[in-house]
Formats: sequence, C-alpha cells, structure tokens
Amino acid sequence: MPRLLILNGPNLNLLGKREPGVYGSRSFEDYFEELKTLFPDVELHYFQSNHEGALLDKIHEVGFSFDGLVINAGALTHTSIALADALAAVPAPAVEVHISNVHARESFRHHSYLSSRAKGVIVGMGLKGYELAIRFLVERE
Ligand code: DQA
Repeated sequence: MPRLLILNGPNLNLLGKREPGVYGSRSFEDYFEELKTLFPDVELHYFQSNHEGALLDKIHEVGFSFDGLVINAGALTHTSIALADALAAVPAPAVEVHISNVHARESFRHHSYLSSRAKGVIVGMGLKGYELAIRFLVERE
C-alpha cells in the first residue's frame, strides 16, 4: 500500500473559516475523511503546522520512507528556501498544491520556491487539487 503525506502549512488549519470566498467553507479535517474514502488502498497521512521548522522536521521524518508528499505550504511557498531545500533533500516525490489560483492574485503569490523541487503543481482547483495530486502520485507508482 503506498504511503503518502499531505502537508499543509500556515493558516491552513483555518480552512472553512478563513476567507471562504477564496478557500471555500469546508474544513480540511472534513475533506480528509472524504480523501480516505476515495483512496482506500492508499495509506494517507495528514500533518498541518503553522511553524516552518515543524514542516521541515516532518519532511525529514517521512521523506526517506514515504512514496510521496502533497504539499501546500501556504504563504511559506513564496518565502521559504529552507522548505525548497528539504524537498530537494529527500527522495519522495512532491506535488505542490494551492487551493486558490495564485496566478490570479497578488504578484507576491506568483513566485514559488517549491515548484522547481516538485514533480508538478496544481493551482486554483480548490480542495479537488489534493485528490488530483494523490491520483498522480499513486498512478506513477
Ligand atoms: C495558498 C495560496 C498562498 O498564497 C496563501 O498564502 C495560502 C494558501 C492556497 O492554497 O491557495 O495560505 O497556498
């Protein structure tokens, strides 16, 4: 059974309450239950943190043994060379996901330090982006 980790960064614990016009009205915990139902043959793990170091530690912890990472680093996407280095350091392939279409928003959201370290990037497809990322990682197994 493939083992995948979904990694959510800062403020994504507020999904469902945070700017629902941009990010929707569903909590990630609720959506994660649906993902587990959609992928009964995948061992799905989920970790969220508002702290860059905790996200780094998690990538180090699972990146050498898991089969893939789905990462939405929130605003750290646009600032964190350390997260980019962590993705480059581990063999697990990563897919970068953004719920909103970052390219249709402020220009500071247009650049990602992570994209060049990811196998692919999914933006603007809402929570569905996580499902598509998992499908990609499982099917390339
Ligand atoms: C986000 C986009 C980022 O620019 C923002 O800082 C987030 C969420 C998204 O999923 O659309 O926190 O990563």
